[in-house]
Amino acid sequence: MKLILLGAPGAGKGTVAKMLTKIDGSVQISTGDILRGAVQAGTELGKKAQGYMERGDLVPDDLIMGIMEKRLQEPDCEKGFLLDGFPRTIPQAEALDALLAKLGIKLDMVVNIDVPRDVIFDRLCTRRTCENPDCQAIYNVKSMPPKKEGICDKCGSPVVQRADETEEAIGHRLDTYNEKTAPLVGYYEKTGLLRTITGTSSDAVVEAIRKELGI
Ligand code: AP5
Repeated sequence: MKLILLGAPGAGKGTVAKMLTKIDGSVQISTGDILRGAVQAGTELGKKAQGYMERGDLVPDDLIMGIMEKRLQEPDCEKGFLLDGFPRTIPQAEALDALLAKLGIKLDMVVNIDVPRDVIFDRLCTRRTCENPDCQAIYNVKSMPPKKEGICDKCGSPVVQRADETEEAIGHRLDTYNEKTAPLVGYYEKTGLLRTITGTSSDAVVEAIRKELGI
């Protein structure tokens, strides 16, 4: 499947994407995970992105498009891909349209995961993430804790709170979402590809996507 997952920070895009990869081998492409990996590895990209991310601001569009142009041409994308956290602005969406046209790729659907703001705020304050850049498994101290506190079930690395998970940065990320990313809902509505799924259960979101795609 070739999908874009839209939704506010904490709507569950990463959780749903990881569940969808198990259905048909499509790959999750999370720009947030790629950037966090680059920050941890201390690469040039990571040095450029770090400040923006810690404040809860968006990283400049040209950096993101540079990453995505390469990533979408890697062989593992042939089976399908789940874009998690990209595009995030209208210019990114326009650049993605041009890139997909150039590569001859058609999207199946754009899924807008719609979750109330109070639920989102609570989830982000209680989320924990595996710090291994090759794993980045997602946990939640309330709804999905690791079996052994602070240790990733999948790879044994420490499970930590993200640097942008302070109350101040979370509030700023939600405001940035409303200003810069929410307009993408209208953008994709016009293409006829948009499906909005309202609900707080990731299983129900996955089921609704399967039903829409007939798989
Ligand atoms: P990114 O990593 O993309 O963060 P985000 O969009 O803020 O999304 P999140 O990862 O916070 O949330 P999610 O929707 O994936 O939720 P999750 O499944 O984890 O981006 C981080 C930063 O990188 C940005 O601020 C920006 O600086 C930069 N960046 C990234 N992409 C960019 C781009 N394209 N352009 C410019 N800058 C970019 O779930 C959240 C929590 O809730 C977890 O604890 C989970 O366990 C829990 N949970 C999920 N579903 C449920 C459920 N159904 N019930 C109970 N708990 C649940």
